[in-house]
Order: sequence, then structure tokens, then C-alpha cells
Amino acid sequence: MLIKNSDGIKSSDITDENLYWNRRNFLRAAALAATTTATGLLYRKLNTPAKQQATLTPTALPTGGYALPTGEAATAFDDITNYNNFYEFSTSKEGVASRAQNFVTRPWTVEVGGLVQNPKTFDLDDLLKLAPPEDRVYRFRCVEAWSMIIPWLGFPLKSLLDAVQPLGNAKFVAFNTLFDPYRMPNQRGDVLPWPYVEGLRLDEALHPLTILATGLYGKPLLPQNGAPLRLVVPWKYGFKSIKSIVKITLTDTQPKATWNYVAPDEYGFYSNVNPQVDHPRWSQATEQRIGEWGRRDTLMFNGYADQVASLYAGMDLKANF
Ligand code: MTE
Repeated sequence: MLIKNSDGIKSSDITDENLYWNRRNFLRAAALAATTTATGLLYRKLNTPAKQQATLTPTALPTGGYALPTGEAATAFDDITNYNNFYEFSTSKEGVASRAQNFVTRPWTVEVGGLVQNPKTFDLDDLLKLAPPEDRVYRFRCVEAWSMIIPWLGFPLKSLLDAVQPLGNAKFVAFNTLFDPYRMPNQRGDVLPWPYVEGLRLDEALHPLTILATGLYGKPLLPQNGAPLRLVVPWKYGFKSIKSIVKITLTDTQPKATWNYVAPDEYGFYSNVNPQVDHPRWSQATEQRIGEWGRRDTLMFNGYADQVASLYAGMDLKANF
């Protein structure tokens, strides 16, 4: 993946700069795409007996189980915690858990500012007292056409935004992941531009389905899932769910989002799950639910259309993909 010749000369040393960056962006996008076709294969490999984090499986998993009202049961804890995208640690889904296992997430602060009445840096433990997390079982659909059912523990992002009081001219919310190449080793390379950033429109951020997750299966988040605090927007592709957030900024202009910036033709700012808009290199009509054989049809807005379609009334969802 790293773009260095075997003799150690960087491509940027010998290539026109624009060409270099376009090529890099293409290769980054290709890295994500390559996993799409490999998902089935990797999933089978994942289910071999020797799983790296098997000992972290809580013994006291609720036996009543977590499920959606539709009856779709939660994906196994081992799968949710061993099949991850978190490029700060590894570009291999199965490599993230082991590389992230010693990531220290306390103390942790989240700086909330920009166009707000009361900018504030929250200590995470104080924040959790202000907004106690609750169970939220959501569908999760990755842009790579696989999906899971995840029993998050989280609180509405709105609780945090209400505490800082957005100003009237605030229209968007920007999020930053921690930038610390010592603790996040892949940030020493340039597989993505760092830090990972994401953004939502303010009305999307205030929607009651949008949460900041701090746990899953009733336990604190493990590093591979974005500890100690990650965004979850269940009607959008998983890459909007930025992990290990340290900064939230209210803005009046549309913020940068990492994948949209790296490959704008492939990953739009909106990133709503939409089976009618194919990715340029694969169909989005169906998905592989991790833990199942065969494929399921992908639902508009990932099945949350009743709650969120009105946010996009009048918008061309093919142009605003
Ligand atoms: N956040 C950061 N900081 N870095 C990442 O590489 N990957 C995104 C998203 N959030 C990513 C991130 C992608 S592509 C997906 S699909 C989800 O995290 C994966 O979340 P999971 O590993 O908990 O399933």
C-alpha cells in the first residue's frame, strides 16, 4: 500500500505533483474498494477458531440478546470487534484489533467550539454524567457492501450540541479524530491525510437517531471500534462514523470529510445509504450481513427512511450522493 519504490525513492520525487496526488487518491480509494470483493473471503477467514480477541468477549452477554424490532439479531461481538476499518492502526480489517489493543483512552477530552454560544472542552467522564449512554441497536451498512446489526451504547449528539448552544449562523458540524502518530502508528505514514475528519449538516447532527457511541453490548468501546467516543449515523455509510473524536466544530460552510476529499467521485459528502446510487465500481443494491450466508437487499436510508427522508426533501440524491 505504501507508495515507495523498492529503492526507497518516493513517487513524488519523480512525478509531476498533481499527477502524484491524483494517483495517491486513486490508490487510497482502491484500497477501500479492494475489500469489497474480498469481504466474503475475509469473513470466512475471520471465522477460524483462533480469534485474536476472543478472550475479550464478555462472559455476561445479555442472554435475552439484542435485536432490531424487525427481529434481525445483533451481529456477534467477536465479529463487531475483529472486522474493523480504522486506518490509523491498520488498513487490514483483521489487523486493527491487535494493533489498537494498547491504545490509551483516558484521560480524554473533547473540544467543542466554532459557531456556538458556550465553547467548552469536556472531560469525557464529565460528559458521560451530563449525557448518560443508553442502548441503541442500529443497522450499520459499510460502503463496501457489508453490514452488521450493532448494539451501541451511546447518547444523542444533540445533548452535547444543546450544551454549547449553536449560534444562528451555524449550519454544519465538523469532527476530528485524534492526531497522535505515537499512539496511532499509521499516522506516521500517509495512507490517508491526517487527522481523519468528517462532517454533518446541523439538522442531521441534531436528529434523534444520531448518537455519539461510547460502548457496545453494554460494555465500554474497545479501541478498534473508536474508543472512547465515535459518531454513529445509522442511515449513512459507515465511513461517516468517525472514531476517537477529540474535536467538534460548528461551522457555516460545508466541512471537509476524509473520503470525500480523497476520492470525491466515489464518496460523497452526504453518503446516505442509497441502493439506487451505485458506487462507480460496484453495485450498492445488496449487502452481505456479516454472520449470514447470501446477500440481503439494501434498504433506502438503511431502513430509516421513515425517520430521515424528510431531511432530504427536494434534493437530488443522485447528485448529492
Ligand atoms: N474513523 C477513523 N478515525 N478512521 C477510519 O479509518 N473508518 C471508517 C469509520 N470511521 C475510519 C473511521 C469506516 S470506512 C468504517 S466502515 C467504520 O469506521 C468502521 O467502523 P467499525 O470498525 O466499528 O465497524
